[in-house]
Amino acid sequence: MEIIVRFFIIAIVMALLYVFCSLIFSFWVFPVLAYRKLKKNGLDGPSPSFPFGNLSEMKTENINVKSSSISHDIHSTLFPFFARWQNSFGKMFVYWLGTEPFLYIADPELLKKLSTEVTAKNWGKPAVFRRDRAAMFGNGLVMSEGDDWARHRHVITPAFNPTNLKAMASLMVETTTKMLDNWTTLVDSGTQEFDVEKEVTATAGEIIAKTSFGISYQSGRLVFEKLRALQTTLFQTIRFVGVPFGKMMHPKKALEARKLGQEINQLFLSLIDERRKMIRGSGPQNDLLGLLLKQSEHGGFTKSLTTKEVVDECKTFFFGGHETTALAITWTMLLLATHQDWQDQLREEIREVVGDKEIDVNMLSGLKKMGWVMNEVLRLYPSAPNAQRQAKADIQVSHDLSIPSGTNMWIDIVGMHHDPALWGDDVNEFKPERFKDNIHGGCKHKMGYLPFGFGGRMCIGRNLTFLEYKIVLTLILSRFSFTISPTYCHSPSIVLSLRPSDGLPLVLQPL
Ligand code: HEM
Repeated sequence: MEIIVRFFIIAIVMALLYVFCSLIFSFWVFPVLAYRKLKKNGLDGPSPSFPFGNLSEMKTENINVKSSSISHDIHSTLFPFFARWQNSFGKMFVYWLGTEPFLYIADPELLKKLSTEVTAKNWGKPAVFRRDRAAMFGNGLVMSEGDDWARHRHVITPAFNPTNLKAMASLMVETTTKMLDNWTTLVDSGTQEFDVEKEVTATAGEIIAKTSFGISYQSGRLVFEKLRALQTTLFQTIRFVGVPFGKMMHPKKALEARKLGQEINQLFLSLIDERRKMIRGSGPQNDLLGLLLKQSEHGGFTKSLTTKEVVDECKTFFFGGHETTALAITWTMLLLATHQDWQDQLREEIREVVGDKEIDVNMLSGLKKMGWVMNEVLRLYPSAPNAQRQAKADIQVSHDLSIPSGTNMWIDIVGMHHDPALWGDDVNEFKPERFKDNIHGGCKHKMGYLPFGFGGRMCIGRNLTFLEYKIVLTLILSRFSFTISPTYCHSPSIVLSLRPSDGLPLVLQPL
């Protein structure tokens, strides 16, 4: 008996010792070894403290700056810590989120070298974000890696081919016209001011629900509401990403995110079920959901998508498919409201190109100035303010720089878009003419302008965005002129995407 008790005690002690050693290794030894390797390559950075890394500096400095005047110099207000560390360590340094070292990159030349060394399939996404954002994206295209990523990208790409995009255009016109008719009714009844961000986001949501999932906004409304709640829970609270057991510091929020994630999964499962029944009745459809389901049923043993993978892609596209485009249109309306000359120029261009005719997809390429405006807005206010990567193998960048396998990378898109060394002294001014005859907007380096990311992992939805942006803006500008409301408070903030934290109240005038 005594021997058995002794055996159990030894077993428990050994198990505890194993857990303790694993924790020490994963939270201390491995990160420090990775850091040493990076340092050996001459990479420096702010000193971290255990277990928060540099998070305390980042959180105290990351205050929402609210201002009644509108400055486009948003890098120094949104990321004062990056701006400061850039001054001390340059455009490439190492900082820590908890016990996770991140290589900060705002150097386009380094990015160019990295993308020639690593193919899209061989890039990873930081494991710490894959875990942290699982409720939102699961293993959808934004977060997937390796063969999984290649398989998903292959299945999804046809959903955005020119024929499918063309078919989406009439739904975009119809949905936007409904929003504008509602604006006319409101203005006629005496309401001239509304929150345009809210309006445009709902319309973009309706567009993605109809075009990619074949459902009405009403049917998708609950999903949008829950996704928005999840986004707020995950990205607006003070969180401890990368800190060991960081979720336990906000157990209520962590549970809430988990619950919302499960509810969203459930909603998509019923949506998928309904579509499967419909396919049996009327045959497959070529929208995004149709393609995903076709692959889940007929993809073959190694190529098919599991139901969980279909759900993860639905989440990714429901969210990513409307918020980013809606924000690009919202920021554009702010900039046009404060630059009446550009509002007039675009209206004039629309009169010349579209006139009184119905919008036709083929006309849109004629809206050149609108294209410059879109590029300039995405430069100053990129809806996706950063991109992340993880090295899956050692990357030999040059003879004196090697990035070890496992290194997390944080690519500061806002930082590069606001860098005077790349754009000149007028970097923070709204000047769409930069993009006249120059797709890089006169940036001194081709990789310094990355609103849609880079390489093979570039945004899959960018052509959908170009189409939607031009259609929605053409219809708005043809029916209304607008100025900024005196109640507007300029306060860009990062809630995963770059958004105006108090919406965008505009005063509208029917034409
Ligand atoms: C103004 C609009 C948009 C902007 C600024 C934008 C920006 C970006 C950026 C910067 C990336 C690269 C992220 C990275 O490298 O980690 C990306 C990827 C992605 N975007 Fe967009 N996006 C927009 C619209 C859309 C739309 C409309 C959709 C869907 C319909 C979409 C779906 C995706 C997906 C699924 C990926 C991941 C692609 C991959 O890794 O293969 N985006 N987007």
